[in-house]
Amino acid sequence: MPEKENQPPANSPSNSNPESTKPKRRGPPRSKKPAAGKSKKVEDSSVKQKKPDAVTADRPVPQKQDNAQPPKRTQKQPQRAPERKKPHHDQAGSVRDLAKLKGVRPIVALTAYDSVMSRLVCDAGVDFILVGDSVGTTLLGHKTTIPVDMTDMLRHTAAVRRAEPNCLLVADLPFGEASFSFDHLLDSARRLMQQGGADAIKIEGGRDVADDIEKLVATGIPVLGHIGLLPQTVKAIGGYRKFGADRQEAEDLYTDAIALEEAGCFAVVGEMIEESVARELAKQILPPLIGIGSGAGCDGQILVSTDVLGYHVNKPPSFVKTYANLNHVISKALSQYVTEVKSKKFPA
Ligand code: KIV
Repeated sequence: MPEKENQPPANSPSNSNPESTKPKRRGPPRSKKPAAGKSKKVEDSSVKQKKPDAVTADRPVPQKQDNAQPPKRTQKQPQRAPERKKPHHDQAGSVRDLAKLKGVRPIVALTAYDSVMSRLVCDAGVDFILVGDSVGTTLLGHKTTIPVDMTDMLRHTAAVRRAEPNCLLVADLPFGEASFSFDHLLDSARRLMQQGGADAIKIEGGRDVADDIEKLVATGIPVLGHIGLLPQTVKAIGGYRKFGADRQEAEDLYTDAIALEEAGCFAVVGEMIEESVARELAKQILPPLIGIGSGAGCDGQILVSTDVLGYHVNKPPSFVKTYANLNHVISKALSQYVTEVKSKKFPA
């Protein structure tokens, strides 16, 4: 997304002089329109009549009738958009609010990828929205999150921000962005916040990224950590699976979680971690542990909104609870539309 940092916005005072912004017309000055009822037929043979071109040649020209009336409105006025819901009184509005919820009540979060879902998810009362790189597998038709890049993340984050959600908005750092150099990472994080409108970013990884996270936090970029199953490493780990089943893996998770706490993460996502290990981790670390497929012992829960709504091509993971069947609702409505057009029932 190109930046326009040096250009004043269209309505800024420096653009308010109409003469400076008016596009200059090329060619001879336009003659004034004749007043109504005083038009003269041009009979000057030197004025060439426009030849009909191939596209318009045999198309009948609609004739204006003298007694023509504007068509009567038969359809109802479209309904107004529903009133915006007030923010829930206990919704986290900042990363500090979120961190303070640990031990008070479970934190709740969902993903969103566009303006419609942003508004619905936020109005449902979540503490934060994650614009996850899961957009790749849920909406963009990719098999993994690896093809998702900064262009995708900026476009979807900005769409979610445009709905003006009343809760915290976190954007995922896509695959590879943390691996080039710290300057590159800083630039990508900066773009997600400045161009996408994110309040915070999420980075997959533990000890390996902790030093960089500490530097980001020091520059004022709030970071949500992510341990356990890291979908961006799916090619390296050979598939999606549970983490923490053996002692070594459980210890590694603990070391990663502590490293993220020390780096200054305001919370940590724990994906597909053995329930008993996740419960213990949540007790051991200061930031809230937000689980996904990691059981009820975490400080909060996050799910992918399309999974929750039953709106998907691929079957959601088994730990997901599906609260609606949008696939069914949508396909029923679409089939009815197709049938009605084919049978000339619509338009009536
Ligand atoms: O991308 C995503 O949606 C995520 C959640 C699964 C936590 O990382």
